[in-house]
Amino acid sequence: SEGSKSYKYLVLGGGNAAGYVARALVEKGVDKSEAAIVSREEVAPYERPALSKAFLFADPPARLPGFHTCVGGGGDRQAPEWYEENGIDLNLNEEIVVADLNGKKIKSKSGAEFGFEKLIVATGCAPIKLSKLEGADLKGIHYLRENADALELYDSLHAHKGEEVLIVGGGYIGMEVAAAAAIVGCKPKLIFPEEHMMSRLFFPAMAKKYEAFYKEKGVEILKDGYLCEGFAGDGEGNLAGVKVAKDGKQEVIPGKLCVIGVGARPNAQLFSDQLETELGGIKVNGKFESSVKDVYAIGDVASFPLKKYNRMTRMEHVAHARQSAAHAVDALFDSATADYDYLPYFYSRVFDLSWQFFGDSVGEPVLIGDIPKMSAFWIENGQVNGVFVEGPTAEDTETMRAIASKRPTVDVDELSALSDPDEALKL
Ligand code: FDA
Ligand code: NAD
Repeated sequence: SEGSKSYKYLVLGGGNAAGYVARALVEKGVDKSEAAIVSREEVAPYERPALSKAFLFADPPARLPGFHTCVGGGGDRQAPEWYEENGIDLNLNEEIVVADLNGKKIKSKSGAEFGFEKLIVATGCAPIKLSKLEGADLKGIHYLRENADALELYDSLHAHKGEEVLIVGGGYIGMEVAAAAAIVGCKPKLIFPEEHMMSRLFFPAMAKKYEAFYKEKGVEILKDGYLCEGFAGDGEGNLAGVKVAKDGKQEVIPGKLCVIGVGARPNAQLFSDQLETELGGIKVNGKFESSVKDVYAIGDVASFPLKKYNRMTRMEHVAHARQSAAHAVDALFDSATADYDYLPYFYSRVFDLSWQFFGDSVGEPVLIGDIPKMSAFWIENGQVNGVFVEGPTAEDTETMRAIASKRPTVDVDELSALSDPDEALKL
């Protein structure tokens, strides 16, 4: 135990959002040891998106300190020395197990106590685990969230070159890890129950393009009813296959390596009896203030008002982690700070492709073009809510941001009749 420390600004969690809080606090000017981060990870905050991309397949692979926070958002790369130089205490390998918000202190598993004047909760999400399924403890089953998970997955993928890798879940992790596995030289099989991949954003015509591309790259897709029901072992504690059921028929898909990406759940349990929650996350207002005074929540764990669309939401993406961190610090220093007005922005990169999305994926979808360049629009009552581009240029990104902000009125038939994705962006 390290005994007791007390801080004016204490950040609980040491992920993407925490790193950007540190940056914003330094910009405001904090005195030595006035601010601290407490994290259960063994490394300083880093850009988590690297873990399912260059970390797994690049040669040489991305490794810390190469992608500590702020490589993505610009500014000084925040390696541990940066925290030291800027007087922010990094308390690593400390898992907080007790939160006493009224008493203004939190406690770690090792017995260390951290007092605070202002607490910023940035605990992010944890992967949803299929731990209740038969065989869930077999060796060879991976989840991917933190640096330590990615190191293990890297070793496993490279030890199974030429062999099957079974990937359960057709969302972000599924698509990105399947691509990484194919690049490494494994034989990925992507297994999910929905009718098409990335069901939380893609519509059928769009998914069809990506699925065809994946097949060309050697990824086998088992979809539309394929539900993972358990894991088969080899009798010695190792994975031998994934048990699936399709239309009531059971089968075992053989493989020694499995990666599960079936969604994430906010790490909000610590506060369940102390803070108001919504949508599974910690409920905050437009200044990231929770229901308890002096306690803020940002990043993946926060449910916040999405002003543009007049509803509450939670966002599990890095742009929001960065922007919510900066906004919360502004609000901490100036109570007149305007409410957060976030324009949703998502992206992904797989193989040599890359897409971006701005806005709200609500309305009738229209797709123009084909991989490697296509654009898509979501239209409701003649107004564009959301815009997507595969293979965007830097200029396209700005065009998309403007379209999603202004939500212009368009003629769906006219737009649908276009065949040039660039022409379509000139709305
Ligand atoms: P984040 O998960 O980054 O940090 C939470 C921190 O809190 C962790 O350090 C955790 O250990 C710590 N913690 C939790 N409970 C604790 C406790 N009780 N005590 C101490 N510490 C505790 N997004 C995107 O827009 N584009 C992309 O390409 C990707 N790619 C991507 C790949 C992979 C593999 C993942 C897992 C995620 C992405 N994302 C993404 C999502 C993005 O990484 C995510 O939205 C941000 O990391 C959220 O930042 P937070 O700081 O909120 O959580
Ligand atoms: P996700 O929500 O994107 O996808 C979950 C997928 O799980 C669904 O598409 C569905 O196919 C599948 N599924 C759900 N239950 C299942 C079951 N019982 N059996 C089989 N499949 C099942 O979540 P994820 O891909 O696990 O990603 C985890 C987190 O990481 C999310 O917060 C995500 O935003 C983040 N992430 C983001 C990016 C990015 O933005 N580019 C990249 C990687 C990870």
